[in-house]
Amino acid sequence: MVTPNNDMPPIPTSRYAHIVGWGMAVPDTILTNHDLEAIVETTDDWIRSRTGIKERRIAGETESTASLGLKAARKALEVADILPTDIDLIVVATSTPENIFPSTASLIQNWLGANRAGAFDLSAACSGFVYAVDMAAQSIRSGSMQVALVIGAETMTRVMDWQDRGTCILFGDGAGAIVLKASDVEGGVLSAVLRSDGSGGDMLGIPTVGSEDLYHSDFSPNGHKMHKMHMNGGEVFKFATRVIAESIQQALVKAGIEIEDLSLIVPHQANLRIIQAAARSLKVEPELFAVNVDRYGNTSAASIPIALCEAIDQKRLKPGEYAAFIGFGGGLTWASMVIKWTGVRTADTRTGISINQQRRQISYMWVRLRTQWKRLNHQVSNIIERLPFRRNRIQRLRDKVDQL
Ligand code: UT7
Repeated sequence: MVTPNNDMPPIPTSRYAHIVGWGMAVPDTILTNHDLEAIVETTDDWIRSRTGIKERRIAGETESTASLGLKAARKALEVADILPTDIDLIVVATSTPENIFPSTASLIQNWLGANRAGAFDLSAACSGFVYAVDMAAQSIRSGSMQVALVIGAETMTRVMDWQDRGTCILFGDGAGAIVLKASDVEGGVLSAVLRSDGSGGDMLGIPTVGSEDLYHSDFSPNGHKMHKMHMNGGEVFKFATRVIAESIQQALVKAGIEIEDLSLIVPHQANLRIIQAAARSLKVEPELFAVNVDRYGNTSAASIPIALCEAIDQKRLKPGEYAAFIGFGGGLTWASMVIKWTGVRTADTRTGISINQQRRQISYMWVRLRTQWKRLNHQVSNIIERLPFRRNRIQRLRDKVDQL
């Protein structure tokens, strides 16, 4: 039983949402700071000293937010040894969805063959993953779901203004995923604090479909390029350093533990200087933080799950230990969460191929065949539409409608 030491009622803890699977995927192509020197007026030294970033990954032509998310999701399902048909809910946190709709989550749901799952995208910028985990965990804790797949996936390099050296040097592409599963054993997601301050909405964003002046101009009413990311770096920096420590403290209070109880903090990877400032505010060693901003840059909603996956693989969490996540970014939004790591690894990949692994492979193969079949069907219909007798019939029908 977790007893929060604030004035909130105790959380009913008969059901918990445990992290039982995790996986990440990053593109192979690396863009170094030196590569960027040829694109904008910058230097490796400036980028390293101001941000800690050395390189980032860039999605290739055949990669997308959904394909990276799918790769990460499949790995997470392997670790959890869960079948796609066991998933009740898929949430993709992203600011670079494939479409406004269908959602990236629905694309991934189809490619996995997760036929029993609901799926939707969640937009809370770089805080999106923590928001999404909380939504999924609450669905599990309420008893309405058993298994949820939460993905943070981005192709930020596709929305960069490659003439703006203040932003294009910061971002990269990638995805991370976790599987949450219901359990009556204490642990998993213990608390979350989600916040938003829309008055700071103009500090960073991507104006897109629905923006007021879309049809009249290539610029939004505030002068930002359509479909490209803009950011007031200095202001966002100040906002981030202001909220991180306070937000983590609030999540700790809700979980009923102290900062000394944490074995790991997984922060949004925006800037090494922000992480160092957070360590100073919280009066903890910087080593408590998982950091990989040097290798991937800022991957927005994907940065926390990618850093979490690496930390787990580096064995930085032992069963029974506590970890905190902290996200911050566009909205403005920020969110923190405390989890108790249970170290559940349902599948042991060293023991050979499990029956579930074979069933997952069959599911993926079946979906591929079904997709190819649908595509073929579509192409055949298109050819039939173009046949003269069919065209004439359609023309006659159109004429009829015109005469009405
Ligand atoms: O994921 C969402 C959350 N995002 C963040 O948390 C990002 C927060 N902001 C930051 O990380 C930092 O503000 C930046 C890294 C974006 C910028 O660092 P800064 O130390 O705040 O630099 P600045 O914007 O104050 O710029 C300092 C100088 C300026 O030149 P002047 O005006 O002093 O002559 C800039 O024009 O550095 C110049 N500058 C650059 N120089 C070389 C800006 N970008 C670059 C660049 N290369 N890429």
